[in-house]
Parts: sequence; C-alpha cells; structure tokens
Amino acid sequence: MPSFLFSPLNRPVNNWAGKRIWLIGASSGIGAALAKAYLDNGATVMLSARRAEQLEAIAAKHPNARILPFDVQDARAWVEAQNHIKHNLGGLDLILFCAAKYQPERSWEMERSDIANTLQINLNSVYEGVCAALPGMLKQNSGGIGIIASVAGYIGLPNASVYGPSKAALINLAELLYCDLHSRNINVYLINPGFVKTELTEKNNFLMPALQMPEQAAAAIIKGMEKGQFEIHFPRRFTTILKLIQMMPYRWRFFLIDRFVTQQG
Ligand SMILES: NC(=O)c1ccc[n+]([C@@H]2O[C@H](COP(=O)([O-])OP(=O)(O)OC[C@H]3O[C@@H](n4cnc5c(N)ncnc54)[C@H](OP(=O)(O)O)[C@@H]3O)[C@@H](O)[C@H]2O)c1
Repeated sequence: MPSFLFSPLNRPVNNWAGKRIWLIGASSGIGAALAKAYLDNGATVMLSARRAEQLEAIAAKHPNARILPFDVQDARAWVEAQNHIKHNLGGLDLILFCAAKYQPERSWEMERSDIANTLQINLNSVYEGVCAALPGMLKQNSGGIGIIASVAGYIGLPNASVYGPSKAALINLAELLYCDLHSRNINVYLINPGFVKTELTEKNNFLMPALQMPEQAAAAIIKGMEKGQFEIHFPRRFTTILKLIQMMPYRWRFFLIDRFVTQQG
C-alpha cells in the first residue's frame, strides 16, 4: 500500500515543552481552555484578545504565559503585535486563530455594519495573522497555523447568515494553505468543532446536540495536533452526520434542514 494513504497529513507534535504559541482569542471559551492546556504542557503562550483582565487572570497562574491584548480589527495593531512576538519570543511554532463573532440571525435580520464587523473579525483577521506569522515561519523553515472554523461552514444553515459563510471561507483558506505550505515544513490545521458551551453559543435559544465543554474541545484539538491530523473535527458522533448531509443532493439536504433546523429556530 502506498504510504501517502496512511501517513498523517501534518508532522505529529510529540512534545509541547518550549513550543512558542500565539493564541488569538484566548480570553474565553475554547481559546482560554487551549491556553491553559498548552501552558500545562510546558509551552510558552502569547495570549491575545481585547479583554486584558481575562488574559491577565490566565497568565497569572503560569510563568510561561505572556499577554498581548489588541483588537483583531486593527491592522496597525497586527503589525505592532508581529514586532512584539519577534522581540519577545524570537519566532513562532504555532499561531492559532480562535477569535470570532457570532450573532444568530435569519437573512432578513442582517445589518450592513454588523456583516462587515463579523467578516472583519472572523475572516479578515485570519489573513492579517497569517501575513504577520508566515514570513518568520518560512524563514525558520518550520511552524504551524491552526484555524478554528466550524461545522457551520460545511453547509449553509439558517441562523448563521454571516457566521456560516465566514467559516466556509476559513475552511477553503485552510485547505489552500495546507497545499501551499506542507512542502515548506509548516503544519496547517483545520479545526471544525461542533457545539461547545461558551459565551459564543450562550445566545442560542435552540437545542445544541452533542454539546461539549471548552476543556473537551481543547483536549480534542491538542490530541489532533499530536496525531498530525489536518482536519480536527469533534465530537465525531455529530460532525459525521453533518459530513454525510454535506454529501447529499441539494433536494435531500434542503428537506432535512427544513425539517430539523428551520422549523426549530
Ligand atoms: N462554541 C462553539 O460551539 C463553536 C463551534 C464551532 C466553532 N467555534 C469557534 O471556536 C472559536 C472560539 O469560540 P468560542 O466558542 O470559544 O467563543 P468565545 O468564548 O466567545 O471566544 C471568542 C474569543 O474571540 C475573541 N475576540 C472576539 N472579537 C475580538 C476582537 N475584535 N479582537 C480580539 N479578539 C476578539 C474574544 O475575546 P475578547 O472579547 O476579549 O476580545 C474571545 O477570546 C471561534 O472561532 C468560534 O467560531 C465555536
């Protein structure tokens, strides 16, 4: 059997000790849980988000934590952050994008300013971060880029009018980054969580099947990276169903969405 059929798509991470990680969106939810887990495993972690006090609270318990609060919508702040990382960490082994904005809304409820704002945070900021981190990684001939998208990016779902398309774009971006960067020794991870109990999903007033805690999400992400997976999706009992729906003809897909999603929300 050819080895490319079975070998991991990324280089497995065997040891987090001493790894330099920049977490964007580390003040709450999955990002905060990831920060604690990486720090417990001995990594040096730069924590970014707007709420400095939340970042400080995490960093206070870990000598290897640093904080770098900024708003990901601020292009100048990205340039300053890039310089800060260079001077303080010397380089990066992993940049992980966790920042996002989500507003449950049907298409007739969308507002222009809110659309732009959500796309800026969910999508444009990832481009900013990739542009900030990639030159250094290419130069050192190693590194990793992790993008948290969502199963909401698999298929067009009512209520995710702006969030869903932003996540679909991130899935596409992660795929092309993998193709570009794999041969340059840079790991690229596409992370597609199902429902996780965080501030982001607090706004949902519908049933969230297979809901997980942020610590479970962080453990699944770290395990996926250790195994060298490209797509890290969880919980599988939920994500597998969505993957099957994604493969269905539109007629069946729309029927199921109408029956189980549209009529619920
Ligand atoms: N929860 C779920 O069910 C679920 C499912 C699939 C995918 N995801 C994805 O998982 C990732 C983490 O989400 P979460 O559920 O953990 O939500 P969360 O608790 O709301 O975390 C979002 C993070 O993004 C940061 N952020 C938002 N706007 C920002 C801005 N303008 N500048 C800098 N940071 C900003 C927030 O920090 P500040 O407010 O302090 O800036 C916070 O740290 C997101 O990409 C989300 O789309 C979540």
